[in-house]
Amino acid sequence: MLLEDKVAVIHGGGGSVGAAAAQVFAREGARVFLAGRSLPRLEAAASSIRAGGGSVEIAVVDAMDQDAVDRHVDAVARAHGGIDVALNAVGFDHVQGLAIGDTSLADYLHPVTGYLQTNFVTAKAAARHMTAQGGGVILTISTPGARLTGRGLIGNAAQSAGLEGFSRALAGELGPAGVRVVCVRPNALLDAVGTSYTGEMFGRIAALTATPRADWLAGLAGNTLLDRLPLLDEVAEYLAFAASDRARSMTGVVANLTAGMIVD
Ligand SMILES: NC(=O)c1ccc[n+]([C@@H]2O[C@H](COP(=O)([O-])OP(=O)(O)OC[C@H]3O[C@@H](n4cnc5c(N)ncnc54)[C@H](OP(=O)(O)O)[C@@H]3O)[C@@H](O)[C@H]2O)c1
Repeated sequence: MLLEDKVAVIHGGGGSVGAAAAQVFAREGARVFLAGRSLPRLEAAASSIRAGGGSVEIAVVDAMDQDAVDRHVDAVARAHGGIDVALNAVGFDHVQGLAIGDTSLADYLHPVTGYLQTNFVTAKAAARHMTAQGGGVILTISTPGARLTGRGLIGNAAQSAGLEGFSRALAGELGPAGVRVVCVRPNALLDAVGTSYTGEMFGRIAALTATPRADWLAGLAGNTLLDRLPLLDEVAEYLAFAASDRARSMTGVVANLTAGMIVD
């Protein structure tokens, strides 16, 4: 198994990507610790892992609060001998699709502050343990906005490019201690629209041009080389590989999971 006995903390563990990753991490032998905001979503994610025989614990932890995250990560590390993998899958609904003149400063800053704060907080909490133990993997998630241009993307672009830069810099800082940092950049995930904040957000963007959400998503798929959007399971499987020792030479990388919307 890819992650046998690894201790993996997933923030936003009840969310669409967090729960999908948790399922695959557990299947691959990891002991999974889900932290998140809403207990029912954490319980749902945990019960499907338990049904498959996996090892999982849950905790309500605000991933924006350094003290709360430190306390939780410290407790997991103390009880289980360290932290091997830390994934931040926290997501925030935010404004996309509007021109700068129609965007408030608060709406612009919401994703920028949100994503950059939570990833700092959770990476800092894990890095203290990983550097002391001489190894570990920090996983972050950005979006295609990091590399796109066009109207309506300023907050998303700044957030995503910022997070990719953060991940790259952190990889350089932690590399000498044996800690890897891998960022994944998925395109819109078609099977997450029913559970993710993106469902509402994509609906609002589509509504700006009076387009049904499904048609808008089909247009997005049409802009990829593979003529389709990625699925949750594909991102989860990639994250499990990136977290595993098979990827031990991989760090400071942004994995392009856009199905060819962006070509490197
Ligand atoms: N879905 C996509 O199409 C897509 C595409 C590219 C990248 N991504 C990235 O994937 C990541 C996860 O997105 P998702 O689609 O899985 O979103 P999601 O399904 O809406 O899940 C986000 C999770 O974050 C939790 N959360 C929000 N604020 C929190 C806080 N302060 N403390 C702890 N947990 C908090 C939410 O808690 P609640 O359960 O309480 O709401 C929710 O469980 C994001 O970084 C996003 O940018 C997603």
